[in-house]
Amino acid sequence: MDKILEVRNLHKTYGSNENAVKALDGIDLDVFEGELLIVLGSSGSGKSTLLNMLGGMDKPDDGSICFRGREISKLNDRELTNYRKDNIGFIFQAFNLIGELTVYENVLIAANIKKNSQIVEKTLELVGIGDKKDKYPSRLSGGEQQRVAIARAIAGSADILLCDEPTGALDYETGKQILIQLEILAKKYNKTVVIVTHTKEIAEMGDRVIKMKDGHILSIKENVNPVSANDLEW
Ligand SMILES: Nc1ncnc2c1ncn2[C@@H]1O[C@H](COP(=O)(O)OP(=O)(O)OP(=O)(O)O)[C@@H](O)[C@H]1O
Ligand SMILES: [Mg+2]
Repeated sequence: MDKILEVRNLHKTYGSNENAVKALDGIDLDVFEGELLIVLGSSGSGKSTLLNMLGGMDKPDDGSICFRGREISKLNDRELTNYRKDNIGFIFQAFNLIGELTVYENVLIAANIKKNSQIVEKTLELVGIGDKKDKYPSRLSGGEQQRVAIARAIAGSADILLCDEPTGALDYETGKQILIQLEILAKKYNKTVVIVTHTKEIAEMGDRVIKMKDGHILSIKENVNPVSANDLEW
């Protein structure tokens, strides 16, 4: 398998002096094209920080991140914005929807290249908010807004999807549908999918499972036979 990301000796400290927190304390990691990678770890272990670095949302203090052989940790802000726009889809705890656009329009801008309204409708149906497509984000519940963000990431053309607790705010059935969709994106469309979760059962669907603690990677385990998302129970 080809490597899509290569992370070496990554460090990030927040705050200074006695308030300093080592959010990442020497991370080495290879991520491969088309793999489904699960990141586990207790609260505060550095999972979101790592995801933000991979997605070019934040810069490390030290170490390197290469995307298909190109160093991204040293890009300037404009270059980083382009890197994100061209390559990364985010599914976040906080969803970053555009308030002035309807649900439908929020997803359409991600699918913009083809202006394919069918894809937009289909992904909105898939996440269970097809009937809300003409509403504005401020009229939706938190869970509904998250589903729009998920639809947007799915409809987009990014090769890497970074998902920070994508099922956290969803009911069980919708959460499962989202995981099934993420699995299809990895297995069928060869997208690289990284999922942060607190749920050990969900880790069973990963090709590999990373455990983090205190800014370190404790272990990386390979699932020879990942459980399909449809068969997961949690
Ligand atoms: N912007 C920030 N300023 C200061 N400290 C931060 C900031 N972001 C993260 N931290 C600290 O860095 C550490 C790692 O945070 P991070 O958000 O990566 O953890 P996490 O594993 O995603 O946790 P959770 O499971 O609760 O989401 C924590 O101790 C956190 O308090
Ligand atoms: Mg987090």
